[in-house]
Amino acid sequence: MQRRTFVKNASLALGGGMLPLAALAPAAGAASASAGAATSTAASATRGLATTLKAADWTQLREMFALSQEYVHLATFLLASHPKPVAEAIERHRHGFDVNPVEYYYMNAAAMDEAIAAAAAEYMGGRPDQVAMTDSTTMGLAMVASGLMLRPDDEVLHSEHDHYAMEQSFQLRAERTGARIRRVSLYDTPAEASVDQILSRLRAAITPATRVVAMTWVHSYSGVKLPIHAIGEMVAELNSTRDEADHILYLVDGVHGFGIEDIDVPSVGCDFFVAGTHKWLFGPRGTGVIWGSDRGWAHCRPVVPSFGAYYGVWLGYITRDQVPVGDYMTPGGFHAFDHRWALPEAFQLHLQLGKANVQQRIHELNTLTKEGLLEIDGVTLHTPLSPELSSGMVCFDYRDLDPGEVMGGLYGQGIIASTTPYRRSYARFAPSLINNEEEIERALAALASL
Ligand SMILES: Cc1ncc(COP(=O)(O)O)c(C=O)c1O
Repeated sequence: MQRRTFVKNASLALGGGMLPLAALAPAAGAASASAGAATSTAASATRGLATTLKAADWTQLREMFALSQEYVHLATFLLASHPKPVAEAIERHRHGFDVNPVEYYYMNAAAMDEAIAAAAAEYMGGRPDQVAMTDSTTMGLAMVASGLMLRPDDEVLHSEHDHYAMEQSFQLRAERTGARIRRVSLYDTPAEASVDQILSRLRAAITPATRVVAMTWVHSYSGVKLPIHAIGEMVAELNSTRDEADHILYLVDGVHGFGIEDIDVPSVGCDFFVAGTHKWLFGPRGTGVIWGSDRGWAHCRPVVPSFGAYYGVWLGYITRDQVPVGDYMTPGGFHAFDHRWALPEAFQLHLQLGKANVQQRIHELNTLTKEGLLEIDGVTLHTPLSPELSSGMVCFDYRDLDPGEVMGGLYGQGIIASTTPYRRSYARFAPSLINNEEEIERALAALASL
């Protein structure tokens, strides 16, 4: 059953119960007509972009952002600035909620859940019902780490290069349940990492007890991009020799490849793919997605009860198998829906730009940055040069300066860089679609002058 069909039916059936429609529309027929009108208003608003955009038109794209022109922004991946179509959608939904929050929510929630899942699946591949919503990558990782059904002796294997959000999600799970966690080092010197080294170290670390392999696509610590498809193949091969009950589940923190690399998520061969959509994708701040394979979701339980169709199961109107699994896994409660509901615009913007064009452009700018850094005396580049092993981040050290000093010195010259928030920290540039070649040259010149 489609989310919209169910929630609409539920809202009409429940009347003054779960949904206070009785107060808004005393007769079911009236509620139905009113719901239809309001639903089509919000849903159609997400169909086309407010501004037409040509594929690969980076200049026009830059004009869609309110980002200050005074700075060269090389750290927008931390938290997106909203491009015009996303900002306009947020404003439209915010207005709807401000005018009549209860009506706007109930008349549009079902259609919007459906539109978001459909837009996500169109962009990332897979089926809409396999997509759950989150507020961030952190929340998505914590939901999966906490919700996975593990047996007492099952072991989770992740890497020493993962972000705090991954490490702590499993650490907290271990503290609560005694789950066994191990970490593997996939490379010693990031700039010299190779696909063979990564795969062989990972393979050697997997034991018969390993039940979850959790990997980060692009390490924000070093800029190293893992060969996630090859890891998927390795996991599939190992699973082919195991009993089904012992199959390894493969989780990917995909946030720093999502919105850059031109892939179809199910082709990775993973069971869970978690990504905030408020970074490279330019989605609304406070949004993210989890894609789960059928096998993955079958081994996971929600941590926070869903507020969508599953509510109807609790009330006895439908059965659990009628609820899309992504809906069941989406944490419930009221959210900042004015933001979440503007997510289709971000997916559409990226599709209009063209996924292959986006990948090519971000790699072009990152390669230019790395080549330029290598020409500056005193730079130690930590990110591999090869696009096969890197993506949108360039990590480096400069002379004997602390990364914070590098960032501060650059900021004084109008360049916004970042430092990697890890125990071993580097300075970092993250050239993205809103940058151009001239800005990269400015950033490199500013660095050389420090
Ligand atoms: C690799 C990685 N995973 C997860 C996160 C957390 O992302 P979010 O802010 O969406 O929770 C970050 C933060 O940038 C990160 O670098």
